Amino acid sequence: MTRAAALPAAVRADFPILAHRGGTYLDNAATTHKPRAVLDALTSYYTTTNSNVGRGYHELGRLSTDAYEQARGDVRAALGARHPDEVVFTAGTTDAVNTVADGLGRRLVGPGDAVLVSGLEHNSNLLPWRRLAEETGADLLVAPVDERGRIDVAGFAALLGPRVRLVAISHVSNVLGTVNPVAELVALAHRHGAVVLVDGAQAVPHRPVDVRALDADFYCFSAHKVYGPMGVGVLYGKRELLAELRPVRVGGGTVKGVSATEPVRYVPVPARLEAGTPDVAGAVALAAALAYLGGLGHDAVRVHDEHLVRYAVRRLSELPGVRVVGAPEETPSGIVSFVVDGIHPYDVGSHLDGRGIAVRCGVHCASTFLDRLGLVGTVRASFAVYNTESDVDAAVDALGSVRPGFWTTEHPDTRFL
Ligand SMILES: Cc1ncc(COP(=O)(O)O)c(C=O)c1O
Repeated sequence: MTRAAALPAAVRADFPILAHRGGTYLDNAATTHKPRAVLDALTSYYTTTNSNVGRGYHELGRLSTDAYEQARGDVRAALGARHPDEVVFTAGTTDAVNTVADGLGRRLVGPGDAVLVSGLEHNSNLLPWRRLAEETGADLLVAPVDERGRIDVAGFAALLGPRVRLVAISHVSNVLGTVNPVAELVALAHRHGAVVLVDGAQAVPHRPVDVRALDADFYCFSAHKVYGPMGVGVLYGKRELLAELRPVRVGGGTVKGVSATEPVRYVPVPARLEAGTPDVAGAVALAAALAYLGGLGHDAVRVHDEHLVRYAVRRLSELPGVRVVGAPEETPSGIVSFVVDGIHPYDVGSHLDGRGIAVRCGVHCASTFLDRLGLVGTVRASFAVYNTESDVDAAVDALGSVRPGFWTTEHPDTRFL
């Protein structure tokens, strides 16, 4: 068995849903399945530890708080952050970006200032900045991307300047899997005094991330895309910058004490940014997911990703009328987007669905990028550690019989998701 084939062979049994459902799941960039280690972490937390955190003066309360803070420490270690206090648990990437846009953006940005994003951002790393610009009178600048989905570094640099207070870019494109030269872009932005947020939602599942090496001011990701549960994610932030965030939500767990007459005294970060009862089980299970991935080894994941992406590109290229978008084999990130001549991506997706193959089709919440590519959408196959060559073969075989359908004939230009 090759090294690339060894990984899925070793891990498939870890994912109960694969045996339960059968079929071919190639929509991992939307969300991955969960290994037993993560499901067990959730169940174990609720069976043995369940209690609110940071509040109860009793044993379970202490155990739960310890488990939650242990999870924070584990995330710190996984990201190479300096201190656990630099890790804020959020509801996911979208929540993390909004937390920074609302909490810091409104402090840093005013009329005449600018926020710089790239032309390939997911709506979750675009709309919070767009709204910030609209509501503060700032400009939203968009760094150009080429037809392969790479940020044009010279074009990015040319837009920087004293007006640009904030930069928000993704590490890996959710549409084409392109890996952006984040460290270079961060260094350029810092030279002009801008604060940089990196959306790592599609990076963390596929590559080791070291926030200090990237020198990102903020870095965020979602647990559910990296084998963890839904509804929880991470906002990493440099301590001194997190401390400047105005909490978007205030409430229980964020204060030292409240009286009717005195000004409210808030606790330091990260608790200040985690108002209300957090998803403790989710955080614990997220740490279990990162441990699971770490246990497989980033090297093994990289070899697997490279192999499967190249295999998929080769097999898809054998099909007449099928065109792979971009050059996913150059920076394999488990994502291969393609189009079929004259057939709407939704028809391709529903044809594959009818044959038990799950893919994502449409604009992938990145319609401005799809505009740049001149496409109504793509079909996106995205891989996880359990996917095999046979999964790719199943999709390629099914594509052999795809024909124009409802969307192609009735709504050839339709695009919404
Ligand atoms: C690059 C990128 N950013 C942000 C998000 C939003 O993540 P979530 O819905 O988990 O908040 C996604 C989800 O697809 C994504 O791919």
